[in-house]
Amino acid sequence: SKSYNITLLPGDGIGPEVISVAKNALQLVASLEEFEVAFEEMPMGGAALDAVGVPLPDETLKSAKQSDATLLGAIGGYKWDNNAKHLKPETGLLQLRKGLQVFANLRPATVLPQLVDASTLKKEVAEGVDLMVVRELTGGIYFGKPRGFSTDENGEEIGFNTEVYATYEIDRIARIAFETARKRRGKLCSVDKANVLEASMLWRKRVTALASEYPDVELSHMYVDNAAMQLVRNPKQFDTIVTNNIFGDILSDEASMITGSIGMLPSASLGASGPGLFEPIHGSAPDIAGQDKANPLATMLSAAMLLKYGLGEEKAARRIEAAVLDTLNRGFRTGDIHSAGHKLVGCKEMGEEVLKSIDSKTPAA
Ligand code: NAD
Ligand code: IPM
Ligand code: MN
Repeated sequence: SKSYNITLLPGDGIGPEVISVAKNALQLVASLEEFEVAFEEMPMGGAALDAVGVPLPDETLKSAKQSDATLLGAIGGYKWDNNAKHLKPETGLLQLRKGLQVFANLRPATVLPQLVDASTLKKEVAEGVDLMVVRELTGGIYFGKPRGFSTDENGEEIGFNTEVYATYEIDRIARIAFETARKRRGKLCSVDKANVLEASMLWRKRVTALASEYPDVELSHMYVDNAAMQLVRNPKQFDTIVTNNIFGDILSDEASMITGSIGMLPSASLGASGPGLFEPIHGSAPDIAGQDKANPLATMLSAAMLLKYGLGEEKAARRIEAAVLDTLNRGFRTGDIHSAGHKLVGCKEMGEEVLKSIDSKTPAA
């Protein structure tokens, strides 16, 4: 039978808690769908800094490159916040994304009928929202040069970064976005700051130029400040959003709250070829770490994206997605999505309930 190698990077904070739950789910759906999974757990982020002194050990990157897909929990925490740049957990994550060349980060935000009440938006605004943020992940201000610290002509200390995009970087993420929109509802909104930033002016020019190759996709453009406002005014206007690295980071956290919690949002990071990286969009949540309070569903759904986009095991992916819905239908809620009339559970118990749902539900073929 088929066999896959999966690299697991639990990382820091709630990372290990949500990864252990998702690992069990992957194991179970693999046995039900009759394929093998072999896990290799590697240090990453603060855990790697503590163990070996760097946030992304060579062996960890090597494992991610050689496996069929990587599932990451989260990295970061107070302990390492004042580290020098190259010794920050976050730097390790950026090195991992760059090392795997996963330039396309898909972040779906779907308001589940079961969780409409968990949204901070009014029911009529939130219900039915189903959007996809396509975030550029290996370029822009996160990686642009020059960057650094220096002093200005007055001897003032300065910190500086560069927002830069090359045509090829814009074209390849735009193509992924047009193709994503084509498979969804055929609407693509490109979000930029082309009224101010040269990198955005080029972004808009290239996205507009490519649109002629996708006549079936309806393209619009929006400035990022307006997009942030429109997301909470009327999120149902959006189908697929394509944007740069930093705007995508911010808008996806904003979009997550429409769905009820950042603890619900998965992501897939994909390159032109080679293995993908799958991770919840949330961080290590140091405020609740080690307390068995984390919502593991974002990581469960990231595991489902891993199965679908990373391994092509769509049935196994659907088993996890169906089990998540079934568990919510049965009334189980972690604290972040809890409301009156539901059963408040911790991370572990939520995971166990999802496993029970996987066992008892066979999704339609
Ligand atoms: P965060 O996403 O970790 O937490 C923000 C808030 O959301 C917190 O109140 C947290 O308790 C809550 N939250 C997050 N995930 C949750 C979950 N699964 N269930 C329930 N509640 C959840 O963002 P932050 O506090 O700004 O960052 C904390 C650390 O995480 C920082 O070191 C940051 O750099 C890092 N970070 C890492 C990643 C990543 O690994 N991909 C992403 C974002 C932030
Ligand atoms: C995310 C995180 C990361 C990012 C940080 C931790 C480097 O916020 O995955 O959204 O900014 O991309
Ligand atoms: Mn983020």
